[in-house]
Amino acid sequence: MVSRVIPVETFDLVIFGGTGDLARRKILPGLYRRFCSGQMPSDARIIGAARSDFGTSEFRDLVRDAIHEFSEKNDCDECNIEEFLAQLDYVTIDAKGEGGWSELKAMMRNDVVKAFYFSVAPSLFGAIAERLHMNGISDADSRIVVEKPFGRDLVTAKALNGDLAAHFDETQIYRIDHYLGKETVQNLMAVRFGNILFEPLWNAQYIDHIQITVAETVGVGGRGEYYDRAGAMRDMVQNHLMQLLCLIAMEPPSKYDPDAVRDEKLKVIRALEPIAPHHIVRGQYDATETEQSYRDDAGDPKSRTESYIALRCQIANWRWANTPIYIRTGKKLKARASEIAVVFKETPHSIFGEEAGTHANVLRIRLQPNEGMTLQVTIKEPGPGGMRLVDVPLDMSFADALGDEDDVPDAYERLIMDVIRGNQTLFMRGDEVEAAWAWTDPLINGWTARNDVPKLYDVGSAGPDDAALMLKRENRAWREIKE
Ligand code: BG6
Repeated sequence: MVSRVIPVETFDLVIFGGTGDLARRKILPGLYRRFCSGQMPSDARIIGAARSDFGTSEFRDLVRDAIHEFSEKNDCDECNIEEFLAQLDYVTIDAKGEGGWSELKAMMRNDVVKAFYFSVAPSLFGAIAERLHMNGISDADSRIVVEKPFGRDLVTAKALNGDLAAHFDETQIYRIDHYLGKETVQNLMAVRFGNILFEPLWNAQYIDHIQITVAETVGVGGRGEYYDRAGAMRDMVQNHLMQLLCLIAMEPPSKYDPDAVRDEKLKVIRALEPIAPHHIVRGQYDATETEQSYRDDAGDPKSRTESYIALRCQIANWRWANTPIYIRTGKKLKARASEIAVVFKETPHSIFGEEAGTHANVLRIRLQPNEGMTLQVTIKEPGPGGMRLVDVPLDMSFADALGDEDDVPDAYERLIMDVIRGNQTLFMRGDEVEAAWAWTDPLINGWTARNDVPKLYDVGSAGPDDAALMLKRENRAWREIKE
């Protein structure tokens, strides 16, 4: 099935930090893909803004190299690259000073969508917002896009929200969580609210528990300094896993509209119960003969930062009473595998007797790799010899159902186009981010006060043993982490 591409309105998109890592890896190759698909108008403009003293042609060279290096999808030809590059400009700018702002103003057009991507350290958000406003570069219809980390606790997140709100209305602020741009994540909403099948069963009466896993094989790489101050809780749980949890647990919004969806997500976050210490397992990857330990990677032999975390979450409302949602994420695990598993309860009475065993339906939503969904159902094992039951998956791989996976835009492509379209549904609202920190902060403060030391786990394992024990105590088990 070929996806329909609806071109967006023409725009001027300024990328602050336009020569930086995120711009080179994700934003610019993503825009190029949208250009190739025909979604980016031929008169749209992308303006890189950074401290480097570049000319436009040097910036175009940098972007050409970035596309070659980071574009995984090779369906765009060289000729397109040059046409795309012709739509790029550059301005040298001093985010905290005065240099470059009048040049930027002179480059901007009046009658087009204006978007400003802050691909810079959060400490610069306030200064850039202020200068855009003071220099008359932005207007009441302009949009600003900000990246995580959005603060490191409630106090800093509130301060950032305040800095942005001083110059921009909430309807102009697009806080990116790239997990919301993933195809399967949106499919979660389509499956839950586009089918009659699931909703009647989607509650504590029929669901035993839910598992959310985001397992990575990469370590902290060159980001040791940032990561060691963050840890898995701040880096992944407060944002990405929290968003997944919201989408799986929220009530049906009255319509697919930014505030209707975000109001429901906010209610979930606010209903999350505090977590007792025995329902928190923090881990750190240990050295093997061939691999460095987390502490080596972080450059701190005494670091107590977690590169793995597993939590037993509980939502205090009617729908989820006594239905745990287990979440876990970690680096250097045995496979790159992200999925949500909704484990239903067993049938209340088995007519097939004890020898048929116990069986539970599982809806497995696979985020990456191999995006898709399977519903595990129980059937009779084929052949004579009595009524033996077996669990088999009803499978729907998106690649099979919808054609070439390469046609599916990656998260950044989709989200940037949503900014241009002015659709905030897949972006976090300020109160959502604050509520997420309000739940996260006491957990972090708790383990800091307890001087908690993360449990070691081997590189290439499924995480610390204590995480398995946490579920075992409740007669449950984590699903296997596999690609
Ligand atoms: C980022 C985190 O937000 O998400 C990284 O900072 C993490 O530590 C990454 O590796 C994971 O994203 P994805 O899309 O590869 O699952």
